[in-house]
Amino acid sequence: MRTAKTFTFHRPALASGYCDSLEGQGLVDSRSGLFLAAPRRTGKSTFLREDLLPAMLGCGWTTIYVDLWADKSKDPALLITSAVKKKMGDYAGIVAKMSRAAGLEKVNVLGALSLNFESTELPPGLTLTDALGALVEIGKAPVAIIIDEAQHALSTQTGIDAMFGLKAARDYLNLGSAQQMLFIVLTGSNRDKLAHLVLKRTQPFFGSQVTRFPLLGRDFTDAYTDFVNPQLAPSNQFSRDDMYEAFTTVGHRPELLRSIVGEIAINAGAEYLGIELKNGAQEIKERIWGVMESEFAGLPDIQRAVLETIIDQGKDYVPFSETSMRAYANLLQQEKISTASVQAALDVLREKGLVWRAAYGDYALEDESLAGWYKSKAQR
Ligand SMILES: Nc1ncnc2c1ncn2[C@@H]1O[C@H](COP(=O)(O)OP(=O)(O)O)[C@@H](O)[C@H]1O
Ligand SMILES: [Mg+2]
Repeated sequence: MRTAKTFTFHRPALASGYCDSLEGQGLVDSRSGLFLAAPRRTGKSTFLREDLLPAMLGCGWTTIYVDLWADKSKDPALLITSAVKKKMGDYAGIVAKMSRAAGLEKVNVLGALSLNFESTELPPGLTLTDALGALVEIGKAPVAIIIDEAQHALSTQTGIDAMFGLKAARDYLNLGSAQQMLFIVLTGSNRDKLAHLVLKRTQPFFGSQVTRFPLLGRDFTDAYTDFVNPQLAPSNQFSRDDMYEAFTTVGHRPELLRSIVGEIAINAGAEYLGIELKNGAQEIKERIWGVMESEFAGLPDIQRAVLETIIDQGKDYVPFSETSMRAYANLLQQEKISTASVQAALDVLREKGLVWRAAYGDYALEDESLAGWYKSKAQR
């Protein structure tokens, strides 16, 4: 099943729809920024690379793609500026020529940038707005910047500053220009975390909306079934229905489906393919949920109470609000809980990688699928 690895399902209509809304056309207006959230490993980055970037290029835009998870040890702000500078490097020859021909003010910006292509940082005194503005100028085209796993920027102050810088660049470049000159796409694996960019007045993209990025669905599994079957004996074929069912069981994650299919296509006999697919998917789901179950069960009461409250309240969670303090106390069946013990529990939950904290002191689940598991547990 080596070739199965190269299967990519494309969603060109979705991509061109996003380009339209970035331009303010169509039903959704994303001129202030497009915010897309979907769980991990469901195909966001693949879509951005394989479908959205090509669609943007098709619009004639200069494109920049930054993945803030590509290197978690690097400051998100640095990853952003270095991606912008790298794109300018593509135009290095033009920059040199223009900086000679242009007016004084532009000579400063372009000249400073052109002297400085080696470093990943912006030259002192130059802002992200300057750099993006110069890029619009050089490319003679609007710039589209995609920041993948953008919520990661919120974990450092310089990252937050970079987000404000991006917003400032957007306002500056789009102001007084008949055409929109900067398009911003921010994605994240956790809707609540991404929401931290848009919810409050103090947050960089206050007023924008986070949209759910659609999961791959039936058309994906149908195409995948049709891709896999010809590689198998005619008597040994997957059914489209079984494939779709297994895919939903593993949380719409292509990799997991691929690994089940790869394993059983070789081993199972024809009449059992459907059953094996179902079992394989169920097994994976139980394994993932089992890990969550035991992790959850192993927590001290106070940590479990805090985690349950975060899950319950989602993006509205505020650690020491009256509502939260009452919720902890209720769960623990105690009269009152001290804020110090809540803080201590939050710190440990962070260390365990269960809870995530923005530089603002807001908290959210590190892995959203924990909430899915918890809610289904509650229904059982
Ligand atoms: N459209 C697609 N067609 C085929 N495989 C896909 C598709 N989208 C994602 N995958 C596979 O699923 C896995 C996770 O995809 P990725 O784009 O990295 O997810 P995310 O960015 O949401 O974490 C990768 O192994 C990728 O090859
Ligand atoms: Mg990704």
